[in-house]
Formats: sequence, structure tokens, C-alpha cells
Amino acid sequence: MTEFSNPNIEVMYSPEQISARVVELGAQITADYAEKDLVLIGVLKGSVIFLADLMRAIDLRLTIDFMAVSSYKDGMVSTGDVEILKDLTNPIRGKDVIVCEDIVDTGLTLFRLTEILGSRGANSIRIATLLDKPEPRIKKELVIDYCGFQIPNKFVVGYGLDAANRYRNLPFIGVVKNPAEA
Ligand code: IMP
Ligand code: MG
Repeated sequence: MTEFSNPNIEVMYSPEQISARVVELGAQITADYAEKDLVLIGVLKGSVIFLADLMRAIDLRLTIDFMAVSSYKDGMVSTGDVEILKDLTNPIRGKDVIVCEDIVDTGLTLFRLTEILGSRGANSIRIATLLDKPEPRIKKELVIDYCGFQIPNKFVVGYGLDAANRYRNLPFIGVVKNPAEA
């Protein structure tokens, strides 16, 4: 058994399916952001693979930047507070920002993050997420502008997403069948 053929992981989206969808999102963003001053902000670490592929599907002049945040959890329950572990390198005042995430679950992290970024004078802020898991959403008012795939309420890994920091390197998105063994 190798990491990519782990029997505890069931493939949900193949590399080809992901790639085709990311190209579509890139084309949509290319059309929407002509003449804009686009900055893609990757939320570390889960979004790095998505961001790397998405930026190459956007045929516009753009820049990238990264943030790392940690959500305060009160036991298993997210409180909605986020701590900035690594901030942006460059100011976003006047820029058109797309925050790139791996997955939106409760929506608490991204809701708070867009509030923080919104206070910094960006011209616009939108959200691009590879995966949207709407069922556990707490911040139902969170608007997701660009979404790769809507998925059921299952724990998924691969293509940047992790379980205890493992599996980010899987070239596909898969469901962990038995989380106790993951
Ligand atoms: P939330 O939207 O504030 O609940 O947090 C979303 C974050 O939780 C994501 O950026 C991931 O780091 C993590 N997360 C949520 N669901 C999953 C999953 O199915 N697999 C891996 N990470 C997940
Ligand atoms: Mg994350």
C-alpha cells in the first residue's frame, strides 16, 4: 500500500475532474476581473494547491499573498474568533481581493477573515473556495462567489486538505472512510 492507494481513502474527485473545474473558475475570474487590480490571498496551508492551479488559469495581471489564521475552538466548537498567525506582506488598500480557501465548513473562519480584510480599505473582497460543505454552515450569510464543488457533510482530504496535517499531497480529493484510522 502506498499513500495514494490508501484503502481508507475513497476518491471523490479525480485530478482530471478537479483540473477541469479549476480551469472553469479561472475563466470566470478572468472575465470578471479584467481592468481590476487583482490580488489572490491564499489561506495557509490548505489552499496552496488550489491557489497554485487557479492562478495559472487566470489570464490577467495579478499578485498573490498569503495569510495563516487559527480559529479559536472551545473544545470542538468554533467560537468564531480568529487569530492571525501570519499576516499579508503587502497592503490591500484599493485592491480587488479574492480570498482563496480549501473548504468552507461552518464559515466562521472566512466570515471573520473577510471582516478583518474589509477594514483595510480593499476595493472589493470576494471568496473562492475549492469545496463548499453547506450543511454545517453557521454563518449562513457568508457569500461564496466562486466554488469548485459543493460536497456532503463528510471529512475530505487531499489536494491541499489535511487530516492532522497528513494527506495534503494526494493529487485527488477523497473521503476518509474511517477517521479513527486516518
Ligand atoms: P470553518 O468554515 O470556519 O468551519 O473552517 C474551515 C476550515 O476547517 C477549513 O479551512 C479546513 O482547514 C477545515 N476543514 C473543514 N472541513 C474539513 C474537511 O472535510 N477536511 C479537511 N479540513 C476541513
Ligand atoms: Mg484551512
